Amino acid sequence: MGKLEKISEKVESLGGDFYITFDAAERFYLSSFSSTFGITLVGQKGNFLITDGRYIERAKELKDFKVILWKGWEELLEFLKGIKAEKLIVDPSRLKAKTYKELEKRFNLIDCEGFLDEFRAVKDDREISLITRAVQIAELSLKSVLHLLKPGTTEIEFRRALIDAFFKFGGNGEAFPTIVASGRNSAVPHWETGNREIKDGDIVIVDFGTVYSGYVSDITRTFLIGNVSSEARKIYDAVLEAQKLGIEELRAGKSCAEVDLKIRKFLENKGYGEFFTHSLGHGIGVEVHEAPTLSKRSTEILKEGNVVTVEPGVYIPEIGGVRIEDDCLITENGTFVISNLNK
Ligand code: GLY
Ligand code: MN
Repeated sequence: MGKLEKISEKVESLGGDFYITFDAAERFYLSSFSSTFGITLVGQKGNFLITDGRYIERAKELKDFKVILWKGWEELLEFLKGIKAEKLIVDPSRLKAKTYKELEKRFNLIDCEGFLDEFRAVKDDREISLITRAVQIAELSLKSVLHLLKPGTTEIEFRRALIDAFFKFGGNGEAFPTIVASGRNSAVPHWETGNREIKDGDIVIVDFGTVYSGYVSDITRTFLIGNVSSEARKIYDAVLEAQKLGIEELRAGKSCAEVDLKIRKFLENKGYGEFFTHSLGHGIGVEVHEAPTLSKRSTEILKEGNVVTVEPGVYIPEIGGVRIEDDCLITENGTFVISNLNK
């Protein structure tokens, strides 16, 4: 059964006629159609994509969707009445409040938070190959500019060179604003890349990823430039050990919280517990952050086909931070690490 049929079965089991979404990432996931505006409907009565004049001609090439020109709310209501669709499933976490209100005025809504997440979390072969290509392009790109990562280069210069390389190797730019965090800036987990010049003795975190046919990569490497302090090396070694352990812990059937907590405990025992201030990892796909989440609060279970990052980090104010991140596919028997840049 294809993904649209599976989704349509869930719509029916929840008592709805359609799942309706206005979200660009969900639209792309469902239809492979990228646009800034569109309404996607999936259900037993068919699959529809409603979009405006800017996109309508291109949308008409879609095979699995009937394409309709957006004319307004009243026309949408008439159309749905015409096919006897009354109950719409919505994911309130993916709707603007105004859109929710417009829908609520006209339709019978069934709220289902994270409705599509369970489908998106399990990648099919095509999605895995697109993510793998996005990883390979990011890795080739980093290797091609590594000679610039040296004293005198600014963070932003390095970021620009990396973005250029993404395009050069076939990627579609940045998957998210690349983080180049040097020296003390590395102690800020999501530093906004700035004008600081890299210096001898710096720790430099580079968190980067590109997009290939709509799918992303997300990798982090940390570099120790020249003569670094013994403390920096100690942090590096602890994070590297934690990261390897994190990858070993991944297995279909395991709870995401359990994996996160195991690595948290490991870094606590090294004395770095309070400095590991984010979750261990997250799914990637059409978006940089999607299900499942490797966090201590997660209730998700790892499944074959998940692609998750493993990215422990330790950030010590005034000293610096280290984060190491790989993209991992959960397989039937274990884990395949898609990214394989040297650490
Ligand atoms: N690489 C950015 C993030 O994981 O948030
Ligand atoms: Mn990440």
